[in-house]
Amino acid sequence: MVVLGIETSCDETAASIVEHKNGKKKVLSNILYSQFKEHKKYGGVVPEIAFREHVKLIDKIIIKALNKGKKKFKDIDLIAATGGPGLHGGLLIGTTVAKSISLSINKPFVPINHLEGHILSPRIEYNLSFPFLVLLVTGGHTMLIIAHKIGKYEILGLTLDDALGEAFDKVAKLLNIGFPGGPQIEKYAKKGVPNIKFAQPLINSNDCNFSFSGLKTSVLKKVSEKKNSIKFKEDVCASFQYTILNILEKKSELALKIFKKKFPTKKKNFVIVGGVASNLFLRKNFNKFAKKNNCKLFVPNKSFCTDNAAMIAWTAMEKYNKKKNNNLNFQPLPNWQI
Ligand SMILES: Nc1ncnc2c1ncn2[C@@H]1O[C@H](COP(=O)(O)OP(=O)(O)OP(=O)(O)O)[C@@H](O)[C@H]1O
Ligand SMILES: [Mg+2]
Repeated sequence: MVVLGIETSCDETAASIVEHKNGKKKVLSNILYSQFKEHKKYGGVVPEIAFREHVKLIDKIIIKALNKGKKKFKDIDLIAATGGPGLHGGLLIGTTVAKSISLSINKPFVPINHLEGHILSPRIEYNLSFPFLVLLVTGGHTMLIIAHKIGKYEILGLTLDDALGEAFDKVAKLLNIGFPGGPQIEKYAKKGVPNIKFAQPLINSNDCNFSFSGLKTSVLKKVSEKKNSIKFKEDVCASFQYTILNILEKKSELALKIFKKKFPTKKKNFVIVGGVASNLFLRKNFNKFAKKNNCKLFVPNKSFCTDNAAMIAWTAMEKYNKKKNNNLNFQPLPNWQI
C-alpha cells in the first residue's frame, strides 16, 4: 500500500509518501514548507496569511513528495489529509485537494485527526505496542493520554489554559528573542543558569492537569523587574525550561501510576510527542526519568515531532488497515476532539 498524506492544519504546508510493502513500513518522502518567514513579524500565526500560503504551495509540495518518493499518482492507493483540529482555512485546502485527488484517481480518502497523527507518530520508527502512555506537548495542546488501541484514547489530564508550545512562544516573545519560541528558548537556555524561581501552577494538584498561564505571568514579572541583558535572558530561559521539566515529570509520574494500576502486567511504554518533544534538554532529562521510573521511553525523530505529513499518511494507513473507509463527504472539523 502506498499512501499520500497532506498536512495543512496550521502554518506548515506538508506532504508525504509512506509505503507498506512486504511487511515493511517506509517513509519515502516527507516534504515540508514552514511559513515561518511569513508570520515572523507578527510574532504568531496569522490565519489568513497561512490560508493564502497553503493555496500557493500545496500543488508544488505534493509533486515534490511524489518525485522524492519516486511515485506517480497512479501508484497511490490511499489519500489522507488532516481534517482537524486546526485553522479552518488550512484544513479546507488540504482536505479539498486530497478529495479531488481521491476522485480523480478513484482511490479512498481518509481524514485524519491531527492529534491522533501525533500520538501514533512514534510507531513510524519504533516497534511500539499498545497500550502506551502519551505525553502530548504541541503548540495547541498539552495532554496525558493512554493510547489503548488505534482509535481509543483516554485523556488522563490536559492543560486548563495555555498549551506548552504556546507558553514557550509567549515567553520568547516577552524576551524578544524570536519566533517560533521553542527553539530560541532552547538555544538561550544552553548558556544560562537555572537560578530564577518561577511559579509551578497545579504542581501539587494531585491530578494530571496542567496550567501554564501563571508560569508565563511569573516570567513576565521577573522580566519587567530586571534589565534585559543577554545573560539575564539566558538565565530566564534556563530557569523556564527547568520549571517545565519539573512540572512535566511530576505529572508524568502520576500518569504512570494510573497506567500501572490499569495494566499491572504490561510493560510501561511511555511516549513524548509533538513539537516541544524536539527540545533536547527535555529529551535528555526524560531519558533519566524513564530509567528512574522503570519505563521504556519512545520519542520520535525531530522531523516527526513538529507538524509533518508523514504522521498523517502513517495514521491513515494504520486506520485503513483496520477499517476500510472512504470518506468523501467529510467536512473539516476545526475543533475535532480525540
Ligand atoms: N526545541 C523546542 N523546544 C521547545 N518547544 C519547541 C521546540 N521546537 C518547537 N517547539 C514548539 O512546538 C510548537 C509547535 O509544535 P507542533 O507543530 O506540534 O504544534 P502545532 O501543530 O502548532 O499544535 P497542534 O499540534 O496542537 O495543532 C511551537 O509552539 C514551538 O515553539
Ligand atoms: Mg501539531
